[in-house]
Order: sequence, then structure tokens, then C-alpha cells
Amino acid sequence: MTSTEKTPTLSPVADAPAAGASHEAEQAYFDALITEDSRVEPRDWMPEKYRKTLTRQVSQHAHSEIIGMQPEANWITRAPSLKRKTILMAKVQDEAGHGLYLYSAAETLGTPRHVLNEQLLEGRAKYSSIFNYPARTWADMGAIGWLVDGAAICNQVPLCRASYGPYGRAMVRICKEESFHQRQGWEILYELSHGTEAQKKMAQDAVNRFYGPALQMFGPPDADSPNSQQSMNWNIKRFSNDELRQRFVDMMVPQAEALGLTLPDPDIKWNEERGHYDYGPLDWDEFHSVIQGKGPCNVQRMQRRRAAHDEGAWVREAAAEYARKNAEQHAELMGA
Ligand SMILES: [Fe+2]
Ligand SMILES: [Fe+2]
Repeated sequence: MTSTEKTPTLSPVADAPAAGASHEAEQAYFDALITEDSRVEPRDWMPEKYRKTLTRQVSQHAHSEIIGMQPEANWITRAPSLKRKTILMAKVQDEAGHGLYLYSAAETLGTPRHVLNEQLLEGRAKYSSIFNYPARTWADMGAIGWLVDGAAICNQVPLCRASYGPYGRAMVRICKEESFHQRQGWEILYELSHGTEAQKKMAQDAVNRFYGPALQMFGPPDADSPNSQQSMNWNIKRFSNDELRQRFVDMMVPQAEALGLTLPDPDIKWNEERGHYDYGPLDWDEFHSVIQGKGPCNVQRMQRRRAAHDEGAWVREAAAEYARKNAEQHAELMGA
């Protein structure tokens, strides 16, 4: 379905402003697309702030997928069986694919991929701070899948309806894969929590370390998130950080019970009146410190990414040369 099919009051031919239309006409068309909850496509005029906000959000999202491969890729060789290795390899590959769809979506907003990549390599772009924590044990693969991919799903399902078409469409496939990731994390933890005492302890320890940072993945509390409202007005964001965090806690409490594990928050309690679980305060000082680069693995993650980029130079050169030769052959054929 194209953006205009959903908008009965707008006919694409009659209402999309022609080339050279006045700024007012372009703004009015954009506003109408948003009001009608329709989709903005790459060719449509859009306010510079909308373009910038999305470029930042989509590229940061892409960076997070790529950096997020590191803690898990570390465990591929140490996974406890061939089956676990193949599952983990598939998962890490999926994350590379997510990065790919998202860089492609970000590029449609006008900033080339190599520029976005430079922003990451030079430390000018952020990525999700959860990936600055180390994966110490095999159980961490379970906790990351269950909690981190679980939080990603809560965050990302509403993004499937984001007003910017290429972003929303990329999110549809990503969410399907994330739900598989969460199940594989759950399954790792389930086996450990029903194994030996030492295995259960390892599972609990992993959950203890990843639960708080996973809750912080939804971003600062609403009162400290001044840009959220604008993103909601533009139909990029559909729910506030705190709403999504609450949804996540409500989802995880019964799942933790089924796993036989405890969430490391003594304040978790069902609130009949609100119809939600209450939960305790989060450590926002830690959150800000990790974002500012002081997390346990920030330096290591960026060093590894830069090294991987350098080591991949020959692949990029070969691909560019292949494309050049192909184009040359094509031109010859057309000219013949
Ligand atoms: Fe992902
Ligand atoms: Fe994932």
C-alpha cells in the first residue's frame, strides 16, 4: 500500500505539490500526511528537523545492531555444543542484516552510508549503551537474548508504524527476527535454570547483571526526554519511554516466574489499581556514565569496530571494482 492509498482526502496527483511549489504547499502536504497517519516517502518534501531526527535515529539504530554483534560473536567459539554454535551464528548474522536494512533506510534520507559509518568510527555517533557491557559467561547469551532482544522488541514493534516508510518497513522484518532471538535466549536460560545448581546460579547472575541495563534501553524517564514529544507528534515514536518500559516489566515478570529466576528488583509488585507492576528506581547515573563512554567495554567495542573496518577494506575495494567492471561491460553492450 502506498502512503496515499490510506489517505482518502489526499489524491497523490491532485494534492502532492508539483515541483517548484511554494514552501507553504509542501509543508501543508507533509502536515496532512502526518495528520492522516500516512507515510512519508524519500521523494516527499520533509522539514529539515524531521530528516535530521530520523537520520540520527535510524543510523544510531544501525550502529547498535552492528556493535551489538560483538558481545555475542565472542561466544560463538565457546558455545557448549554444535547446535548452540549454529544458533548463535545465525543470530549474530541476523544482527548484521538488521544493520544492513537500517543503513539502507537511513541512506534514503540523503546521507551516504560511508558518512554515517565515519560518524560511528570517529566516535561522533552513539549506539545503544547496553552493548558496552561484557558478556562474561555462557548464561549471558541467554540473558542478552531474553532481556536485550526482549526490550528491543518492545521498543521496535511500534516503530513498524513509524511515519517514515523505509524505516517502518525495515522494522517489520527486524521484529520478526528479534522475536526468534528472544526465544533462543529464553531457551538457553530455561535449560540452565533447570540444570545443576551451578548452572542455575550462572543464569541468575546473568539476569542480575543485564536486567537494569535492559530497562535503561528505553531511554531516560519521560520528564528528562525533551525530544520525545516532537517524535511522537511526527508519528515516529508511538509510546513514551516510560510507557514502553512499563510494558516490558509487565511482560518480563511472568516470564521470569516461568523460568524460575528472580528479577533483581525487590520493589516489583503487582499494583491492582494501575493494572501494572510497580518497580524500583533505576540507576540513571550509571546510564549517563556509560553513554559518556565510561562503560566497561566502550573502548574495546570501538577498537574492534575500527579494526574490523580496516580489515574489511579489501572486500569494499573488490566489490567496488566488480561493480565498476560490470557497469563498463553493460555500457559496452548498450553501445554495441
Ligand atoms: Fe537486531
Ligand atoms: Fe536481536
